[in-house]
Amino acid sequence: MATKASHWYKDAIIYELPIKSFYDSNGDGIGDFKGAIQKLDYLERLGVTALWILPFNPSPLRDDGYDVADYYSVNPIYGNIDDFKAFVAEAHRRNMRVIIELVINHTSDQHEWFQRAKKAPEGSSHRNFYVWSPSNDKYQGVRIIFQDFEPSNWTWDPDVEQYFWHRFYHHQPDLNFDNPEVQTEIFNVLDYWAQFGVDGFRLDAIPYLFEREGTSCENVPETHEFLKKVRAHVDEKYKGEILFLAEANMWPKDAAAYFGNGDECHMNFHFPLMPRLYMAIRRHNRKDILEILDKTPEIPDNCQWATFLRNHDELTLEMVTDEDRKYMWEEYSPDPRARINLGIRRRLATLMDGSRRKMELMNVMLFSMPGTPVLYYGDEIGMGDNYHLDDRNGVRTPMQWNSGLNAGFSTTNPQELYLPVIIDPEFHYESINVEVMENKPRSILKWTQKIISIYKQHKAFARGSLQMLEPANEAILSYIRSFEDEQILVVINLSEKPEVVELDLSAYAGRKTVELFGGNHFPAITDKPYLLTIGGSGYYWLKMV
Ligand code: NOJ
Repeated sequence: MATKASHWYKDAIIYELPIKSFYDSNGDGIGDFKGAIQKLDYLERLGVTALWILPFNPSPLRDDGYDVADYYSVNPIYGNIDDFKAFVAEAHRRNMRVIIELVINHTSDQHEWFQRAKKAPEGSSHRNFYVWSPSNDKYQGVRIIFQDFEPSNWTWDPDVEQYFWHRFYHHQPDLNFDNPEVQTEIFNVLDYWAQFGVDGFRLDAIPYLFEREGTSCENVPETHEFLKKVRAHVDEKYKGEILFLAEANMWPKDAAAYFGNGDECHMNFHFPLMPRLYMAIRRHNRKDILEILDKTPEIPDNCQWATFLRNHDELTLEMVTDEDRKYMWEEYSPDPRARINLGIRRRLATLMDGSRRKMELMNVMLFSMPGTPVLYYGDEIGMGDNYHLDDRNGVRTPMQWNSGLNAGFSTTNPQELYLPVIIDPEFHYESINVEVMENKPRSILKWTQKIISIYKQHKAFARGSLQMLEPANEAILSYIRSFEDEQILVVINLSEKPEVVELDLSAYAGRKTVELFGGNHFPAITDKPYLLTIGGSGYYWLKMV
C-alpha cells in the first residue's frame, strides 16, 4: 500500500465539464474532445485544478451516456481514443487533473453483455451478469429513483420471460455484482482507463451495487466490501494517487460510510448540505446549515467531502424532510414544470432570480465551508436554463462563449445543435457569455476567478478546521477556518437586509484583521464583543493577522 499519497484532491477546485456541451470543433452541433482542448486555456484562467468529465463511452444516450454500451472506447460523436489521450495530456500540461466516470451499477440494454445475457441459458454466468427474477415481488419496498418515469424497479423481458432489475431507467439494467465475473470485468475497465493517466473516477450510483432481500438494497455491507477490494487494487497499482469520488446521495452518516476507514472512497459529495444552503438564504436563517453540519460525522484523515451548488442533474431534494421539500418547491420552483422526480431542474443563476449578490453569497458559502468545491460548467458566467426541454436537458445546454451564432459553441445550423442555446430574455446568451464577461472587470466570471484565487492562497479553506460561532442574530452564519497559524473569520449575511452582529472573538484578542476580497483593514479584535455591520446578502472573509 502506498504511503506517500499527496492528497491532491483536498486542495482541488473541481470543474464539472460535459464534453458534449463545451465546445464543438467540427461543426456537427455536438461538443467534442478536440473542442474541449481548445478551451482548456479558459479553464486555466478560471483557476480550476481538476476537470470531472461526464460519460463519453459509446451509448444510445437515453440517459446522456450514463447508459454505457461499451466500456472500452470513446463515442465517435466526441472523438476517438487519441483525442481523449490528447485531452488528458493537455489538461496535465496545465496542471489540471482529470476525473472520469465509472458507471458500473448498470449498463445500457444495448451493451453486448445484456444482449448476450438474454440469449444465454438460465443459470449461466452470462445470463447472471444481470439480476433476473421470474416474479416482480422480490426486493419489495425499494424506492424508485426516477419516479416520474418508472413505475417499478423491475421490467419484464419478453425474450427471457423474466423480470430484470434496474434502479434507474428501464433501459439501464443493473449489473449483478454477486457474479464474480462481473467484478473481474469492472477491475478490467478501471485498469483500462487508468493506463491513460486519469487521476480519478467518479463512482456513479455506488450505493446500489448489491441487492439483498429484506433491505432497502442500498448501502449493504457487500457493497462496502467490494469497494474496499477495488480501492486496495488501485492503491497498490497506482501508488495511491487515483481518486475515488463517490456519488452516494444519502444522509451524512450513510454517506460517510463510503469513506470506510479511509479505505473506500477518498471523496464523497455532501448531498444533504447542498439544499440547506438554498434553504438558509431563503429563510434568512442559519439553522438548517448548522443542523446538518452537526449531523456530519468526522471523516478519516485522508478523506474529504466534495461540496457543490449545482450539477448536471436536478437539484435533488431526496435528503430533506417532506416539509422542507414542499418549502423548496414552493420557493424555488413555483412553476411545477421546473420540477422533476424529487428535485428542481434549474441552474444556480435562475434559482437566485438572477441576483448577482445571491450568486456570490452561495459561492462564498461553497468556497468557505469544509470540502473540495465542485463547480458546474456555465455557473461561473451565471448561465440560464430551459426547463421546457426534456428530462434534465434544461441545465445541459451549450456553453455560451460569445454573442455570435450558437453562442460561439458551434458553427452548425442552429437547428442541428444537440440542444438549443438559452434565449430567455433575462439570460440570453448575447449578454451572458464568456467573451462579454472576460472584458468586464466586474463580471461574475471575473469575480469567480477572484474567489478561486483567494481560495488557493489560503490553505485554511481547503484543509482547515471549522469553529462555528453562534451569535444571537440567526441571519448571520459565521465560522472560523483554521489551518496551522492561518485563521480566517467568515461572516455571511443570509438576509437581504443590512444586519448587525456581535461575535465573541475574545480567544483571538490582539489579532488584526484584513478583508480578503478588498484588502482593507478591519477593526482589530479585542476581548470585547466584535461588532460588525454587514449589507444585505453581504459577506466578509477576514484574515486574522
Ligand atoms: C447519477 C447521474 O448523475 C445521473 O445523471 C444518472 O442519470 C444516474 N446516476 C444513473 O446513472
